[in-house]
Amino acid sequence: MLTIALAKGSLLKDSIKLLQSIGLDFSAFLEPGCRQLQIIDPTGTAKALFVRNGDVPVYVEYGQAQLGIVGYDVIREKTPNVAQVLDLKFGGCRLSVAVKASSPYRSSLELPLQGRIATSFVHCSREYFDGLDLPVDIVPLHGSVELGPITGMSEAIVDLVATGNTLRENGLVEIDTLFYSTARLIAYPLSYRLNTYDLQTHVQRLSDVLTAQTP
Ligand code: PRP
Repeated sequence: MLTIALAKGSLLKDSIKLLQSIGLDFSAFLEPGCRQLQIIDPTGTAKALFVRNGDVPVYVEYGQAQLGIVGYDVIREKTPNVAQVLDLKFGGCRLSVAVKASSPYRSSLELPLQGRIATSFVHCSREYFDGLDLPVDIVPLHGSVELGPITGMSEAIVDLVATGNTLRENGLVEIDTLFYSTARLIAYPLSYRLNTYDLQTHVQRLSDVLTAQTP
């Protein structure tokens, strides 16, 4: 059966809405108290796996899911061996460098040599600061990275910004952006090539829905 890996968190609602538009209903994941980790849509056409954002490409890379919906930020950080087949346009955000509003730094290049950068995007941050030729100490964290500068552990953070509310509420300001991100449809390359479970028709139908939505 066609299996789709869906990310818990901010992309879930829009992912489910998009799949509903091609007749695949996984809205049971949104019901309060739902603890199921996999759901078969009522037509019996496809199954969805409910996994952490960062694990979506893992299920797709190993072929346990033929499709997955995940942020471009995750693809950039994990560099999985998957086919990126569609930009789904929702889930817009950016990966940015931020510092305390009261700090003297107003661009990444002003950060001190060997300054500390707290982030859960270790690979992207390393690549970015190497590109600037600025030696920094990357401090890996798994969440609430804003606390890095607040507690004085780090000079800056590299983190996702969507509305900017989290930065504002914690007294931080963006000083540079690494890249912009949206949700992507990814596929297990072999299944996509062999058109397993009529994958290409599903992708085409999703693409048609997105085209129809484009103003
Ligand atoms: C992300 C990110 C920020 C927040 C930014 O966290 O790490 O904390 O969203 O969004 P905003 O600009 O709209 O305030 P997320 O909610 O994905 O959870 P996380 O703490 O697990 O990263």
